[in-house]
Amino acid sequence: MARLTARTPPLTGRVTLPGDKSVSHRALLIAALAAGTSQITNLNDGGDVGATATALRAFGARITSSTSSLVEVEGCGGARGMTEPDDVVDAGNSGTTLRCLVGLCAGIPGTTVLTGDASLRARPMLRVVVPLRQMGASIDGRRYGDRAPLLVRGGDLSGIELETDVASAQVKTAVLLAGLAAGGTTSVTEPRPSRDHTERMLAAAGVTVERSGTTAAIAGGQVPEARAWTVPGDLSAALFLVVGATLVPGSDLLIEDVGLNPTRAAALDVLRSMGADIEVEETTVADGEPRGRLRVRHSELHGIEVDEERSAMLIDEVPALAIAAARARGTTTFRGVGELRVKESDRIVALANGISGLGGSAVAVPDGLEVSSGALGGGRIDPAGDHRIAMAFAIAGLVASGSVTVSGWSCVDTSFPGFLETLAQAQKPR
Ligand code: S3P
Repeated sequence: MARLTARTPPLTGRVTLPGDKSVSHRALLIAALAAGTSQITNLNDGGDVGATATALRAFGARITSSTSSLVEVEGCGGARGMTEPDDVVDAGNSGTTLRCLVGLCAGIPGTTVLTGDASLRARPMLRVVVPLRQMGASIDGRRYGDRAPLLVRGGDLSGIELETDVASAQVKTAVLLAGLAAGGTTSVTEPRPSRDHTERMLAAAGVTVERSGTTAAIAGGQVPEARAWTVPGDLSAALFLVVGATLVPGSDLLIEDVGLNPTRAAALDVLRSMGADIEVEETTVADGEPRGRLRVRHSELHGIEVDEERSAMLIDEVPALAIAAARARGTTTFRGVGELRVKESDRIVALANGISGLGGSAVAVPDGLEVSSGALGGGRIDPAGDHRIAMAFAIAGLVASGSVTVSGWSCVDTSFPGFLETLAQAQKPR
């Protein structure tokens, strides 16, 4: 349980954030596929990335950590060098782990059973299962393969040209990882761009990735090179603090060494168009990923319309943005965010109920959310095991007139175990 109150100091400190979750999953996956030993610095220490590491050990990768911030991975030299796990592989709460692993297992000779917690077992899997079956993998599961547990028999795969209906980086990653083990070329074309860490990081590891528009293509038989990765701070996690600093009067927060991949930065643009004062300074590009510093000062916000095109690029950030919207003048509308209904919780319902429960104004519509200006009072929030809902309402607690209690707080450990400590650091004047 966490209790946040509005008698909060402004956010005038300087913080760094845990390693980016998406980049961390991929650094482990690529290192496990590589020939040789890779080093990963600043790997995200949450439960989701931990689930990926545990699974990769079960496939034969040796993963050790000499210090809390440096992990070494001895890779298997491709999916064919990986072994059939001797037990069920549990992805916990992590959709990225489960979906990416289905793609990896499709290329591993042998049988793997993949499962997850109750939330993950309720999430749709056919989006990865169907294309992988087309490539030649045999995959069964509940609801004809749409729900975990999934049983994957990997082996000989052939490349496909996939056109997806939903822009999903998890689907793209699963199919491209299978493509590495397949004969011929595998390509994925999406209706809109999704986050492109897989393409950038595979290229950084020496794999040839052809990119054109929203298509990424890979020739089979390539093995990534082992290398040293340094994971940037997580921009999606940063956004909770960015919203906090924007809303709490007197704030002037510095966030150092955060990932600035353009496919992840749309939420910063949305906040800016709502009136937020955010300076972005790109300092370096490392491992194919731009990174830098954010400076955020308090400002008054106004509501805007976030259309379908923009929404697709900021699905993970809607929880934090909805709290910003609840404190902005006028109404903010998020359209085309139906994917929020199949995340760790139905986030549209969780946000609408949570904001209304605190006395604000939010309405769920089938594919979206409308949030209007209103005073937030105190109250109790049950995040239904969803880390981003828990963190969003912790930020609401900084600007609510009463105290906000978030129950089941330990769910934040899936992505950001030190959230409250980092918030306290953000409140320490620099
Ligand atoms: C992720 C992709 C996104 C995102 C998730 C992490 C990834 O999902 O919501 O939190 O690391 O590939 P999609 O597969 O819907 O793009």
